[in-house]
Amino acid sequence: MTFKDPASYTDLTQGKIKHILFRVNVDFSTHTLDIEATYQMQEPVHGSLFLDSYRIDLKKARTDGRELKWALDEQDEILGERLHLRDLEGVSTFTLTFKTSPEARALQWLNASQTAGGQYPFLFSQCQAIHARSIFPCQDTPSVRFSYSAEVDVPDGLVAAMAAEQIGVEDGTGHDSNVFRFRMPQPIPSYLFALAVGNLDFRELGPRTGVYAEPETIESAAWEFAENEMKIVEAEKLLGPYLWGRYDLLVLPPSFPYGGMENPRLTFLTPTAILGTRGQTSLITHELAHAWTGNLVTNATWQDFWLNEGWTTYAEQRITEVLEGKDITDLRAVFSEKQLIEIMQQIGMDSPLTCLKLPAERDADSFTTSIPYFKGCFFLQECEYAVGRERFDAFIQKYMASFQFQSLTTEAFLDFLRAELPEVFEKVDVETWIYKPGMPDPDTWHRPQSHLYDEVRQALENYEQGIRPTREQVQGWHRGQIFSFLQGLPHKIPAEDCPYFEELLELEKRNDAGYYSFFYTICVVSGYQAALPRIEQFLGKIGRMLFILRIFRAMIETEWSRDVARPLFERVRGRHHQITVNAIEGLLKRADL
Ligand code: BES
Ligand code: ZN
Repeated sequence: MTFKDPASYTDLTQGKIKHILFRVNVDFSTHTLDIEATYQMQEPVHGSLFLDSYRIDLKKARTDGRELKWALDEQDEILGERLHLRDLEGVSTFTLTFKTSPEARALQWLNASQTAGGQYPFLFSQCQAIHARSIFPCQDTPSVRFSYSAEVDVPDGLVAAMAAEQIGVEDGTGHDSNVFRFRMPQPIPSYLFALAVGNLDFRELGPRTGVYAEPETIESAAWEFAENEMKIVEAEKLLGPYLWGRYDLLVLPPSFPYGGMENPRLTFLTPTAILGTRGQTSLITHELAHAWTGNLVTNATWQDFWLNEGWTTYAEQRITEVLEGKDITDLRAVFSEKQLIEIMQQIGMDSPLTCLKLPAERDADSFTTSIPYFKGCFFLQECEYAVGRERFDAFIQKYMASFQFQSLTTEAFLDFLRAELPEVFEKVDVETWIYKPGMPDPDTWHRPQSHLYDEVRQALENYEQGIRPTREQVQGWHRGQIFSFLQGLPHKIPAEDCPYFEELLELEKRNDAGYYSFFYTICVVSGYQAALPRIEQFLGKIGRMLFILRIFRAMIETEWSRDVARPLFERVRGRHHQITVNAIEGLLKRADL
C-alpha cells in the first residue's frame, strides 16, 4: 500500500484485522459498554500492532492465556490515543477487555425523557467518520475491512439492533437481561459498525425490508416507508445485485445528528423523515444507494470522501429519475447547484475543501460539507455525457463488480476510469474537476436546467418587483419547488413578510423540518423576532445538523440575535449529540461567543 490515512494511526505494513468477536454488556446506569473483543488478524503479526482508540479504559490484553505488553500513547483530541501492542511474536488472535468512556464520541446515551415513549432509555452509535475507536480499539480507517459477530447483553424490556444479521435472543447472565446475537459475514470498514438499544418495535415492509422504531412511531414509519422494496429493485438495475441480505430502517429519536446513516443492512434515520406524505424519498434512496457506493466500494481515506458521497448522490439521482421522473431530478439538480455555490462562497472559492480530492486532514469530520456530494455528482454526470448513458451504465456495473468489498483511492478510481472509458479524459477536464478548487467554467459543463424551477424563478423575480406570489400560484407546487423558493428568497425581507410566507406556503400544516430550516433562517436575518420562541423549540428538538447549523449561523451573523445565540445554545445543548455540540461550539467560538 502506498498511502497513509491521516485520520488513523493504522500502519498497514503491520497487517490487518480480519474478524472480531464482541461480547458487549450495555450499562445505562454508568453510560458505558463493557466489552470483551477477540481479534483475528489476516496474518500473524510480528513486532508491534497500532490500533486507534479514544478514551478506552483497557483492562487486559491477552493471547492464548498469556498477557500481552501494551501501552496507550498520549491523548490527542482528534485522533485519540494510539494503542500500541508490543512484541507480538506471530500472534494472529488476541483478546482485549475494556470499558468505553461515558464521553465516547460514537455513543449517545439518551434518558427516557429524550425518547418518543418517555419510558425507556435509548442508546445509539454513530461511527462515521472516525468515532468507532471510541467503542473498540481498531484500525479505524476505511481501508481496512473486517467481519464480526457480536453478543449484546441489554436490560429487560429493551431491544438491541445492529447493522448486522440478527441470529437469536437468549436469556442474559442475570435474570433481568437478554442477549441479542448478531453476525456480519460481509467485511465492513470500522465506520459502518453500528449499534442501537431501546424500546424498539419492528414491522415487516416487504420480503427484504422492514422498519424498527419506538412503538409510538412505528405505525407512521411503516406507512411512510412502505415502498422501500421497490427502491431496491430499481437500485439493483443500476448498480448490480444487493449483496447484504436485508435492508431495514431504524428510526431514531430526534437528536440523531444526520438525516440518515448508511449502516449496512440497517440505515439509521432521522424521525424528521416521517412527513406523513411519503415525501422524503430521496433521503432513503440516498442511504440505500450507499449499500453499493460506499459500503460495497468504499473510499480508502476520508480525502476520497467524494467516491462515497458523490457516487451516492449520482446513483440517488438516477434511481429517483426512474421512480419520480426527470422533471423532479432536474429541479433537484438546480437546487443542488445553488447550494453548492453558496457553500463554496461561504468557505472560499479557492479553499482546498472545495476540491473533490480533499487535503490530508486529521479531523475527518471537518470535511463534512455538501461539496463532495454535489460536485462529485456533477462530475460523474459529465462522465456520463461524455460516453453516453448506455456505456456509462455498463461502466457502473463493472466498477461495482470489480471493487466489491474493497476500498480505493481517487487515484485508483481514475486509473480504472482511464482504462475503461478513455474518451472521458478527452472530453472532460478530469484534472480540474478532481484537483482544482471551485467549479469548472460554466461553459465547460452541462449546468442543470429545470422548467419546474423556471416557475419558481418567476415567482422570485416578481417578489423582487414587489409582487408577492398568490395562493393559486403556489398551490400545486412540488416539495422541491417550495424548497427552491425558500432557498431563492433573499435572507433579509421585510419582517412582516415572514408570517405571510409561512401562511402562503402552509408551512405549519406541512410540518416539514426541512422547510423550517430555511424559513427560520430568513426569520432571523429579517428580524422577525416573534418567531424566537418557536426557533428555540426547533433548535432544542431537531438534531439533524443540516437543518440547524444554518439557523445558528444566521443567529450569530445577525445583530439582534447575536447575543442570544450562546445562552440559547446553553439551554438546548444537553439535548444534542456530541457531534452536533462540537459543530455549534465551533461556530460560536469562531465568532468569539
Ligand atoms: N454518510 C452520510 C452521513 C455522514 C457523513 C456521517 C459524514 C458522518 C460523516 C449520509 O449518507 C448522508 O449523506 N446523510 C445526509 C443526507 C443525504 C440525503 C444527503 C444527511 O445526513 O444530511
Ligand atoms: Zn451519504
